[in-house]
Amino acid sequence: MRLREQLVAVAHSLYVRGYTFGTAGNISVREGERILISPTNSSFGSLKPGDLAEVSLTGEPLPGPSPSKEAHFHLAAYRARPEAGAVVHLHSCHATAVSCLADLDMDDALPVYTPYFAMRLPCLPVAEYYPPGDPALAPSVEAAAANSPALLLRNHGSIATGRTLQEASALAEEIEEQARLYFLLGARGRALTPEQVAELRRRFR
Ligand code: 13P
Repeated sequence: MRLREQLVAVAHSLYVRGYTFGTAGNISVREGERILISPTNSSFGSLKPGDLAEVSLTGEPLPGPSPSKEAHFHLAAYRARPEAGAVVHLHSCHATAVSCLADLDMDDALPVYTPYFAMRLPCLPVAEYYPPGDPALAPSVEAAAANSPALLLRNHGSIATGRTLQEASALAEEIEEQARLYFLLGARGRALTPEQVAELRRRFR
């Protein structure tokens, strides 16, 4: 499947399973010296391969549909993560709720309840709040993404990177589900101990 078709298939899958809604979120994939990205104000549920916008890796929009207003932070995530081939940004409910907590550890937003969350992420940093599309999001995302392949945006949502679209999507889903567990458990939760987390990260590096 061409990258355009893969991007649309991953976006549809996220939409039908409720990880995104309305025109929230954006998704991109790197192809050589440019990225293909969802156009601004588009729905993951109705994207077509021909709808995608193209932006050079240096940030110039290329001919075609207007890119997502968040193209600049997608590019920042690619700069911070040389291994990344795809970036998924969601406003999925529980991850976004975590990003809005009054008391939030900006270096690592969630306790580790289950092994895969520890195996996939060294930490979940939070980039400070700026309005959607604000250019100041890019340096903030770049700094957070240097520490982890995924992060939260304060009062906004999540960003996940991956070598492939499938990997970035799976990581975004993992964050949403860990955030859901966090709210389901409340004060009753028992997080893995720092030793258990360290052992998982050693074994599954
Ligand atoms: P775009 O429609 O421009 O991609 O913006 C949606 C969004 O999720 C902003 O963060």
